[in-house]
Amino acid sequence: MNTQIFDTPEVQDFLRLASGLDQAGGNPRTKAIIHRILSDLFKTIEDLDITSDEYWAGVAYLNQLGARGEAGLLSPGLGLDRYFDMRMDAEDAALGVANGTPRTIEGPLYVAGAPVEQGFARLDDGSDANGHTLIMHGTVHGADGRPLPGATVEVWHANTKGFYSHFDPTGEQKPFNMRRTIVTDAQGRYRFQSIVPVGYGCPPDGPTQALLNQLGRHGNRPAHIHFFVSAQGHRKLTTQINIDGDPLVYDDFAYATREGLVPPLVERSDADSIQRNGLSAPFAEIAFDITLSALVDGVDNQIVERARLAA
Ligand code: DHB
Ligand code: FE
Repeated sequence: MNTQIFDTPEVQDFLRLASGLDQAGGNPRTKAIIHRILSDLFKTIEDLDITSDEYWAGVAYLNQLGARGEAGLLSPGLGLDRYFDMRMDAEDAALGVANGTPRTIEGPLYVAGAPVEQGFARLDDGSDANGHTLIMHGTVHGADGRPLPGATVEVWHANTKGFYSHFDPTGEQKPFNMRRTIVTDAQGRYRFQSIVPVGYGCPPDGPTQALLNQLGRHGNRPAHIHFFVSAQGHRKLTTQINIDGDPLVYDDFAYATREGLVPPLVERSDADSIQRNGLSAPFAEIAFDITLSALVDGVDNQIVERARLAA
């Protein structure tokens, strides 16, 4: 039997009490958010007749999620990161703000403090035996379409096992492997040499994958490369490109794929290209230009502060 008590004065008063709404101290914003989330949870428990066993399984799950440090992994998997992007896009549309290069999610694996290089950087340390050389380059443009010298292009990506330095369970990668900050040259250009990354998968034995299994979903991402791009007078762009041809390009568990973020990857095997890039073997090349959006009334109105690893 599912008794209906949510709408009674007793339960409604209790929700206000538990959210501290009858207290003078505390933070009003926190109270408002907790009151709303708690109310929605109480209502969900009633509407779906959630059992005590199901509820306590959920509490144990949250503890596992925290213990494994996976809250930031579950978030994109459940589409919340994508939802925040949708909201920022809608806010821009309402303000008439045009974005050049589309934004997409940051993901949980950025690390602050990567080495800074001028114009060009080598991202990998050559230790990945399966690495296929990648040359990626492009020009960063301002909102007026002009190239932006001195823009910073922060780039990070996974190795051929789909693991990121600082988060690599094998312990194989040195700090900041495949992470650099590249400052664009006088023509607004960035360029890097690295290796073609492989797609990332959630830890198979972790709580994120466990929940995805319950949803009948996989926990894999197509191969991708992350960017933060910043320049004077412009909003910081958070984006990624996908590696063209990856079978999961349009089946990303984190929903980060967007039109305009799958540039062609061209295999170069001719002697001239190899030599011009100072290489000795065939390589993959991606050209990707980036266009930033201007500050809104002089400020970056969408800057995102979140806990990030710094090394
Ligand atoms: C996750 C991993 C990524 O590499 C990424 O870019 C986004 C999300 C994740 O584990 O949730
Ligand atoms: Fe990633």
